[in-house]
Amino acid sequence: THIDWDIDMAEKGGYPDFMLKEIYEQPRVVRDTLVGRLAPNGELDIDELGLSFEELNVIDRIYVIACGTSYHAGLIAKNLIESWARIPCEVEAASEFRYRDPIITPSTLVVAVSQSGETADTLAAIRDARIKGAKVFGITNVIGSPVARESDGVIYTKANKEIAVASTKSFIGQIVSLTLLALLLGQAKGRLTTGQVRMLFHELGDTSAQIQRIFDTQLDAIHEAACACQGAQSALFVGRGMGAAISYEGALKLKEVSYLHAEAYAAGEMKHGPIALIEPGFPVIAVTTKSPTYDKVVSNLKECEARGARIIALATEGDEDIKRIADHVIYIPPVRDAFSAITASVPLQLLAREVALMRGCNVDQPRNLAKSVTVE
Ligand code: G6P
Repeated sequence: THIDWDIDMAEKGGYPDFMLKEIYEQPRVVRDTLVGRLAPNGELDIDELGLSFEELNVIDRIYVIACGTSYHAGLIAKNLIESWARIPCEVEAASEFRYRDPIITPSTLVVAVSQSGETADTLAAIRDARIKGAKVFGITNVIGSPVARESDGVIYTKANKEIAVASTKSFIGQIVSLTLLALLLGQAKGRLTTGQVRMLFHELGDTSAQIQRIFDTQLDAIHEAACACQGAQSALFVGRGMGAAISYEGALKLKEVSYLHAEAYAAGEMKHGPIALIEPGFPVIAVTTKSPTYDKVVSNLKECEARGARIIALATEGDEDIKRIADHVIYIPPVRDAFSAITASVPLQLLAREVALMRGCNVDQPRNLAKSVTVE
């Protein structure tokens, strides 16, 4: 009815769908997740974790357990935890972890990541890990949710309620929260100085404005890239390191909302199989932001180009060279590799949404998917 329409529009804050509204909230999510986290003395303030530096220092193994998009936030966290805190970190789907016999000791930390805080497999994995003696930290968006209640400590992602089934803003909140945890562990392990933590914290905060800049400058480029994908049968996302983790989430987002088959691969693995898929016009979406493996990704792309792939590159502003091999370029502001997932994931969300709309899909409620999966 007419009234429903009005209510609907009001809830969406004037946006045509919740997915777009939530994508546009991400600069705020970054800011809110960081509010009050850096004390004036330069120490990180994450008291809700309930562990002292001494207790954190004892941790010698970390498992990040999660499902879906939250699992991809874990892949990003692994890179940060291992590089800043030098603690071995594995990322595992909760549905695998709970049925294995993982190596858990009292110095093991399990980090459970769940937007809803009620995913059945994640909860079961938390319970199992605690019985086996691990400390469990929860990262969730829902205050008082089962994940929050059943963990020893919790960090809340300040995304606010997320309505679109495909997760966007809570993913960014998860990455920011996990980045804080990685900084804290780095400091507790004596690997990062207070000065380094402060500098990294401020750079992390800068990603808020960088996301806004993508909205302000890259919408046309994203639209063109979406046009290039819409008629495809399949798409391949590639990157290395952080870029691989970004690719996995980019492919998931595209699959979820547009029903276009998409696969993500670590770029160096392409020659072991996926390159067989490439034929003229096949879309390859590549994360080619400035990173230690930039040259390697570019050389992987040359192999795709030689086989006629249509290349969409996500590159760092100022990188003109990439235009020599890419048919379409989406630029993100220069950012430390450690923070690239926060910015580079955003245009991939917009790309997935545009392709979905072009293909006539309901971006807020994709078929067969549920916002939270509380049964097995
Ligand atoms: C469902 C949702 C996904 C989400 C996953 C994990 O599949 O559709 O968007 O990433 O569950 O949910 P959680 O609430 O545990 O993060």
